[in-house]
Amino acid sequence: MTDPQAQASSVPVITIDGPTASGKGTIASRVAQRLGWATLDSGALYRLTALGVLQEGVNAEDVAAVARVARELDVAFRGDVILLKGEDVTNRIRQEDIGNLASRVAVYPEVREALLQRQRDFRRPPGLVADGRDMGTVVFPDATLKIFLVAAVEARAERRYKQLKEKGFSVNLTDLLEDMRARDSRDANRASAPLVAAPDAITIDSSGLSIEQTVQAVLDHWSARLA
Ligand code: DC
Repeated sequence: MTDPQAQASSVPVITIDGPTASGKGTIASRVAQRLGWATLDSGALYRLTALGVLQEGVNAEDVAAVARVARELDVAFRGDVILLKGEDVTNRIRQEDIGNLASRVAVYPEVREALLQRQRDFRRPPGLVADGRDMGTVVFPDATLKIFLVAAVEARAERRYKQLKEKGFSVNLTDLLEDMRARDSRDANRASAPLVAAPDAITIDSSGLSIEQTVQAVLDHWSARLA
């Protein structure tokens, strides 16, 4: 009988880790599109956990209860649409209150553990592009190519501001910048799986690059890896 785990580990993975609003999600989905691969938006799982915590009235300080929410998440990814218990929450989980709560619950090792196998299950042929904070360090340490995508916090706050405005949310750039700095610091300084580049990751600074240029930079590294 073939060992499903060994079979999965032969599937190539490109990981794209980086701080909030560095453009990871957009870059990951375009790279995946160009390669014909699947994507994993791991941040969505932490955001869904945060939304579950709110919906179920769970105390966010109660680690065991939050981990239970993470373990029991009833979620479906249908293309760009994300369903939680059958309800379309695609836009809801992008709101800043959920992002901030996601960053808080992501600190708990029990929550990270509860989401680990669910993330690894996304690894299916012909390949996977996974974006997050610990894709290259913890979830897919054997990934074929690891990218660490960074951008100046001001550039990221501007991008997020535009994104949220386009979605019709009312936002304030100064608040956004402050929240983003706090979230960066929490994600980078937590004890469990902090945001850090894997030793074998390639860092790309997208502050002065267009989306297409950044996608191309990742694909160039991928071609170089294959050669
Ligand atoms: O990438 P994002 O902004 O959607 O992620 C939301 C939060 O989830 C982020 O502040 C930290 C957490 N997260 C994490 O800890 N590990 C990941 N692999 C992805 C996200």
